[in-house]
Amino acid sequence: MDARKTGKNAKLTVGDKSWEFPVLGGSIGPEVVDISKLYGQTGMFTYDPGFTSTASCESKITYIDGDQGILLYRGYPIEQLAEHGDFLETCYLLLYGELPNKTQKSDFDYRITRHTMVHEQMARFFQGFRRDAHPMAVMVACVGALSAFYHDSTDISDPHQRMVASMRMIAKIPTLAAMVYKYSIGQPFVYPKNELDYASNFLRMCFSVPCEEYKLNPVLARALDRIFILHADHEQNASTSTVRLAGSSGANPFACIAAGIACLWGPAHGGANEAALQMLMEIGSVDRIPEFIRRAKDKNDSFRLMGFGHRVYKNYDPRAKIMQKTCHDVLAEVGHKNDPLLQVAMELERIALHDDYFVEKKLYPNIDFYSGITLKAMGFPTSMFTVLFALARTVGWIGQWREMIEDPEQRIGRPRQLFTGAPRRDYTDIAKRK
Ligand code: ACO
Repeated sequence: MDARKTGKNAKLTVGDKSWEFPVLGGSIGPEVVDISKLYGQTGMFTYDPGFTSTASCESKITYIDGDQGILLYRGYPIEQLAEHGDFLETCYLLLYGELPNKTQKSDFDYRITRHTMVHEQMARFFQGFRRDAHPMAVMVACVGALSAFYHDSTDISDPHQRMVASMRMIAKIPTLAAMVYKYSIGQPFVYPKNELDYASNFLRMCFSVPCEEYKLNPVLARALDRIFILHADHEQNASTSTVRLAGSSGANPFACIAAGIACLWGPAHGGANEAALQMLMEIGSVDRIPEFIRRAKDKNDSFRLMGFGHRVYKNYDPRAKIMQKTCHDVLAEVGHKNDPLLQVAMELERIALHDDYFVEKKLYPNIDFYSGITLKAMGFPTSMFTVLFALARTVGWIGQWREMIEDPEQRIGRPRQLFTGAPRRDYTDIAKRK
């Protein structure tokens, strides 16, 4: 454990009994009360549904200050990485802790690009799915199936196999994601082209067809690369915690990432970019915004402004600012500068940022608010949005999974509960039941 002992203790008093628990510190961020011995000493659990006050692990990868709107990967601000770096450099940083030098970078790029093809049998595996299946459903299955195709990298106790599995997933996930897309529209799969950078290769695998030469658009490739950087990691969010929890049982890395993808699909998490765009389309025009704002504020209406609010950010999501700019760049490039959805989005954002309800609850646009419009303008259908998120987040999940496996204090994740069901009772014969 690298946590700092602060020398302080937190005192818990229940009735006439008191206990003390050590307060630990990290390098930045709130201190934590170490309650790992709480049950042993007091016979009580803590109760924290949704883990709003619980640090589930010690980590060195990503830091968020939600009140200030700060996001750091290994200490580097997201704005700087998105402005000056590329996605594979970010992957290296997240996995190894430092930015690569030139040799390390070219070696890493080489290793990733030499793993981009998937087992040819994978193509046959796709045939089992309906063409109209949701791409996320197919992604969960395909990534889970990688353990059947690459069984030689599933021994998690072997550091070499862990590394090979990590490289394989970062390299193959764009190929699989593009295959998922091509399968859904009935077009032939496109093999990766290793001379291209990560984002360009993905765009080509998605949008090229055998009968035409594909012309890469560097503005779109750069924008996509930036979108990948923005989504690469986000500390202990729901899908990452899912990956860690699945991995804590010793499950193989491909299965853990499949679990993360399944969790990410939910509309409160990665599915929000799809939901946000659908909402913008439903609103349709600027004059209908007040009606939707009213619904979002109505306690009796389950409608929420998708793309607004965040569990951690109680300030402007720093990724949303970069996403907004990327959105403008892409729309200008593809000639959609006057896209009515963009007008609705900008006006909705303006109104919500000044509305008392949203101001008081600190509900700001999150990254999903502008990413949907951007991806749509690039040519992706809404059903692919969360797939792109999963593609980019894979490196974060892998980094967090590796950190957990390499942590000597790692144990199986096993939360407890506050039981409110029936206490012990005796079985009643069916003839005697009312
Ligand atoms: N629209 C309207 N009201 C909202 C919204 C919203 N988008 N988000 C939160 N609120 C309100 C809630 O009704 C609640 O009001 P109350 O205190 O009067 O009951 C209050 O704000 C707090 O909301 P919670 O749901 O308790 O906040 P929580 O931290 O649990 O939820 C979440 C965060 C899930 C992101 C939520 O804001 C939401 O559902 N947003 C829309 C979906 C979305 O955009 N998700 C993307 C998240 S980012 C990501 O995964 C990349």
